Amino acid sequence: MPASADTVVPPLKRLWRYASGYRKRIILASTWSFLNKAVDIAPPFLIGMAIDVVVNGSDSLLGQFGIEDQRSQIVVIAVLSGIIWGLESLFEYLLGVEWRNLAQSIQHDLRIDTYEHIQDLDLGFFEDRSTGDLMAVLNDDVNQLERFLDVGANEVIQLLTTVTLIGASFFIIAPSVAWLAFLPIPIILWGSLLFQKKIEPRYAKVREEAASINSQLSNNLGGMSTIKAFTAEDREVARIEEESRRYQAANQAAIKLSSAFTPLIRVAILFGFTAMLVWGGYLALEGSLNVGLYSVMVFLTQRLLWPLTRLGQTVDLYQRAMASTNRILDVLDTEPVILDGDDTLTADEGSGSIVFDSVTFSYEEGFPVLSDIDVEIEASNTTAFVGSTGSGKTTIIKLLLRFYDPDSGAISVGGRDIRKVTQQSLRDQIALVSQDVFLFHGTVAQNIAYGVASASTEDIEKAAMAAEAHDFILELPNGYDTIVGERGQKLSGGQRQRLSIARALLTDSPILILDEATSAVDNETEAAIQRSLARISHNRTTVVIAHRLSTIRNADRIYVVDAGQVVEFGTHDELLANRGPYAALWAVQTGEVAPTA
Ligand code: GTP
Ligand code: MG
Repeated sequence: MPASADTVVPPLKRLWRYASGYRKRIILASTWSFLNKAVDIAPPFLIGMAIDVVVNGSDSLLGQFGIEDQRSQIVVIAVLSGIIWGLESLFEYLLGVEWRNLAQSIQHDLRIDTYEHIQDLDLGFFEDRSTGDLMAVLNDDVNQLERFLDVGANEVIQLLTTVTLIGASFFIIAPSVAWLAFLPIPIILWGSLLFQKKIEPRYAKVREEAASINSQLSNNLGGMSTIKAFTAEDREVARIEEESRRYQAANQAAIKLSSAFTPLIRVAILFGFTAMLVWGGYLALEGSLNVGLYSVMVFLTQRLLWPLTRLGQTVDLYQRAMASTNRILDVLDTEPVILDGDDTLTADEGSGSIVFDSVTFSYEEGFPVLSDIDVEIEASNTTAFVGSTGSGKTTIIKLLLRFYDPDSGAISVGGRDIRKVTQQSLRDQIALVSQDVFLFHGTVAQNIAYGVASASTEDIEKAAMAAEAHDFILELPNGYDTIVGERGQKLSGGQRQRLSIARALLTDSPILILDEATSAVDNETEAAIQRSLARISHNRTTVVIAHRLSTIRNADRIYVVDAGQVVEFGTHDELLANRGPYAALWAVQTGEVAPTA
């Protein structure tokens, strides 16, 4: 969520604040823009001088500087023209290079900063923002800003330069008629401000709709097999069409307004131009205005007012970029809720026991998912959690990893409150095989080595063997170099699960967490995983979450979770003897009836 104080700060100011490291380059680029425009308005003066030479001869301006001969005067003007055109080209080149490189630097840094910041935000943030929406910020919005910096910023500066310099020259050379050229400017400025105010919400809406269609698209592309399985293709096309129409309509609303702007401005300009032409002409005929100056005035008026017809497009580009800037900076200004502690959790502490001390937690206020949980996971032991679906088992793990903080109570590892240590040092001690396995696009070997970039081929194979994955990997088309596809879709569910076990084992962390790691494997593989678990959990704190109770019957302690509360705990035998919920579940799953106590 954007910080409320920042929503009122204009986007340009927010951008300027962000761009503090680029200010020197922005000023340099602006200087080139200014100089380019400054020499660009020289030609009307040269034309004026040429007419002056022809009409006034040795009384001309150049004549007064001591160049008597009219032909020499013309040559001087030609040389001046050459210099001015040369300078204009040079500045044009410099401003192009500077602004465009600046646009590249800023878009690069902004994208990386935003991505890095997003990575630091806690999982709660991602519940409310869709992947597609964030993709739109990282791609479209950043590109929109790039486009503005590429050409728009230069245009704004040159427009301001034109108005200031020409305005100043007008008032210096012919104050009596200067006001005529400026007649339309208040109208144009007023119109522009009004236009900017009106178009702003329309572009905000365009960006919103762009994000919305993005998230729908990424949703659909990710769920292609579900769409096909439920033959929902037509429905989904209709849905995307609807989203696309909304985007189109939002843009059309903006186009309607922005297209009307330029023609209206042009009318105002025509008015100023003809007024200068006629009034100035009368003055020249009367002889109260120098003919050379009259021509300069007419050309300058054209130079002054003509760029204003482009004002609409510039404001347009600006407004689009600012809508995007706001969206990017809103993400950048989002503060993470989960903050690092100052200390580092050592490997020694990581090998200690884990304690949940009356932990209460809710994802959404008022809907507690865990209530007053007390759990002790002893060091080097295997602790299991069982319970019906949705009872809160995975949530316990998410709290241990500090993906979320408890509402009350505390969690400690090796005697250290996990809020007092850095998240990285905490998570370094934990290897997680999560319930929904996620593999990255890449090879089997790369996926196994994900947690340990420096792993050798032997290490990778050893981990795969321990996870009972080695044999099936060798049977894949390219063995360890087989590409698994996006999200690992080229592998079976059980294969994915075993790869993720291998990945966790390779990190060799003191704490190993297996959330339903055996749910997608056959009985034989489950038995194999059991055997390897018995080996690897030997002197490691192991936490196992399982629905199949046979998986965890050998655990040192089993917690039975129901509706966010621990209802029973003990060893398998103790729990059977209790004849409580665990014994009932066991009876259902195995058909065995618990022995009478
Ligand atoms: P199974 O994995 O199905 O056996 O369930 P579980 O015991 O692991 O349940 P889990 O801890 O995942 O969820 C407990 C409750 O929290 C459920 O009612 C979910 O609806 C809710 N929940 C789980 N994850 C999230 C989350 O990321 N955000 C929100 N808002 N709610 C969640
Ligand atoms: Mg779960």
